[in-house]
Amino acid sequence: MNQTKNKKIVIAIDGHSSCGKSTVAKQLAKQLGYLYLDSGAMYRAVTLYALRNQLANNGTVNEQALVDRLEKIRIEFRWNETTQQNETYLNDENVEEEIRQLPVANHVSPVATIKDVRQAMVRQQQKLGENKGIVMDGRDIGTVVFPQAELKIFMTASPEVRAQRRYDELTAKGQQVRFDEILKNVEDRDRIDSGRKESPLRQADDALILDNSYLNREDQLKWAMEKAKERIEDC
Ligand code: DC
Repeated sequence: MNQTKNKKIVIAIDGHSSCGKSTVAKQLAKQLGYLYLDSGAMYRAVTLYALRNQLANNGTVNEQALVDRLEKIRIEFRWNETTQQNETYLNDENVEEEIRQLPVANHVSPVATIKDVRQAMVRQQQKLGENKGIVMDGRDIGTVVFPQAELKIFMTASPEVRAQRRYDELTAKGQQVRFDEILKNVEDRDRIDSGRKESPLRQADDALILDNSYLNREDQLKWAMEKAKERIEDC
């Protein structure tokens, strides 16, 4: 019997926005038969709720009003057989597409700085990972959500490379976007994510770095699978 199949670990993938964390995380989870959880989708869903309820506008957020309504915000992930992916639900509505668009992207960083929002999200994330066998990506997974994760990967790439990837992704979906706006969004989010007081984006001391500016998807996955197998063997 293959012993590695029975040992389940937690894999935390953190890093800058738009550097391909979710692609690596999803593929890794698929190959290992693990659950994949996109923690950024949870902050995006809260942001969408804030926008729809006039609690966020023009890049600002009414923090207190949002915190007062946190209990009304129910976020779930449901499996879609057709796409073979988990999709994000906000109060029973599928919002997977809407949370990826620019209005949400432009307001999500300030929402993700709010302490009470973070505490509520982190509690849910820890619950989802309590049985291990999970790959979770985000900004604070290896530092705050699962500081004991057996494998921590910190991913990065240059802002220009990341903006180009996001631009290609959005234009391929038919969206009309400008490269300079996307680059500004990437740089703004880096600054807020790394500079915020609550759980800033930082590399965990025991994380392995994956700079994928010039690596293709196959090479990244191969590297990550090797690291995962080593850790599964070790534990
Ligand atoms: O990974 P993403 O781009 O979908 O994340 C959206 C935003 O949420 C990003 O600006 C940072 C924030 N985020 C966070 O603060 N902590 C996480 N664990 C995941 C995302």
